[in-house]
Amino acid sequence: MPAIVIVGAQWGDEGKGKATDLLGSRVDYVVKPNGGNNAGHTVVVGGEKFELKLLPAGILSPNATPVIGNGVVVNLEALFEEIDGLEVRGADTSKLRISANAHLVAPYHQTMDKVTERFLGKRAIGTTGRGIGPTYMDKVGRLGIRVQDIFDESILRQKIEGALRQKNELLVKLYNRRDITVDEIADYFLSFVDRLRPMVVDSTILLNDALDRGEVVLMEGGQATYLDVDHGTYPFVTSSNPTAGGASVGSGIGPTRINRSVGIIKAYTTRVGAGPFPTELFDDWGEFLQKTGGEFGVNTGRPRRCGWYDAVMARYAARINGFTDFFLTKLDVLTGIEEIPVCVAYDIDGVRHDQMPMTQTEFHHAKPIFENFPGWTEDITGARTLEELPENARNYVLALEKMSGAQFSAIGVGPGRDQVVQVHDLIK
Ligand code: GDP
Ligand code: IMO
Ligand code: MG
Repeated sequence: MPAIVIVGAQWGDEGKGKATDLLGSRVDYVVKPNGGNNAGHTVVVGGEKFELKLLPAGILSPNATPVIGNGVVVNLEALFEEIDGLEVRGADTSKLRISANAHLVAPYHQTMDKVTERFLGKRAIGTTGRGIGPTYMDKVGRLGIRVQDIFDESILRQKIEGALRQKNELLVKLYNRRDITVDEIADYFLSFVDRLRPMVVDSTILLNDALDRGEVVLMEGGQATYLDVDHGTYPFVTSSNPTAGGASVGSGIGPTRINRSVGIIKAYTTRVGAGPFPTELFDDWGEFLQKTGGEFGVNTGRPRRCGWYDAVMARYAARINGFTDFFLTKLDVLTGIEEIPVCVAYDIDGVRHDQMPMTQTEFHHAKPIFENFPGWTEDITGARTLEELPENARNYVLALEKMSGAQFSAIGVGPGRDQVVQVHDLIK
């Protein structure tokens, strides 16, 4: 049986939470392989809205075991706040398991995130301010503190001391901040030990054993292809690899065991934070998409920048992630637009590009070449099959499918769990 990976195909907020939730009743494990509480995945169940940040949306599927993989960076305070918030609303979080190898976000990582952004000035990334970048920096720099480290106080103190030696130099001498003591950080981490201990496992054994038994494992990526530190619009990216290959590393599930790579893609494009965005709209249409689509960040409340669908981006994402399928979301948001523009290629300094250009400079110069498709006015939120969509909506979807590089297996027509047009089964 398969491991399936769900990957954002744009700049995030495509509806990965909804896609996970849709498959949730048919999977045994949902693992989050990357990112941290910079994510915001919204799931609407029976009219009730849940917003997941650090936890995988699979925590709302009673049959699935949710797992925080080794590739995640965990803010323990945010973790328990989220767990408590869900428990109060009646969700059962008791099955949650956390990799012993996941790295921990320390209070000084959040401080570093904020001061670095401030010092970047005009070149700021527009991060979520959750300390994600600095935590991954310490991981790669071999100064990180992992979940397992807090169960051995002597090791924990040594590691904190190592990390603070450099951090305090930066904070005090460069950023005019007060220095941080080993004791305060150790006390902070140790206060979570008792609650955390029963959740911690070797998640690579847990997940690979499940696959051996023929169970289904879903990997719910955070962020998205264009926020990937290798494949995205660097430096305006996050600090992990939210692409399909990164999901393998971040969960310890070997690439040969993943047989479905599903790109989640909106029927238009959005972005939070800074960086290039070829189809971005600055007119009333941008405002229309933002209002109709409710495009405000779950995590920071920031308005999302909006633009038309970009097929060049879709093709690149299909290539990088080896997508077997796309899940097109938010088609209903386009209802009522007379003519819907779709970016089919870029004009870069007078030359047509059908593929993503090699350099960031070219991408900054990319002007979208649009093709217009006739819109529809009928309410599509009740459609469940392609045949039930108005002809123009169906043609729009089929046209996008043809230019995007993988089959469109599901189409979202509303935020609800059941508001989906199913075309191909995603688990088989
Ligand atoms: P994620 O980060 O990829 O999980 O996406 P977010 O949850 O941040 O943003 C997607 C938003 O769109 C959420 O508010 C979802 O409830 C909503 N959504 C998902 N699919 C659809 C859809 O097909 N139609 C509509 N109208 N909303 C959707
Ligand atoms: P989900 O999982 C949209 C963006 C931030 C910023 C950049 C770096 O909900 O799709 P970071 O705090 O990660 O260092 O910020 O990445 N970003 C997201 N944008 N959706 C997300 O997650 C994001 N996670 C990070 O806005 O531009
Ligand atoms: Mg989101």
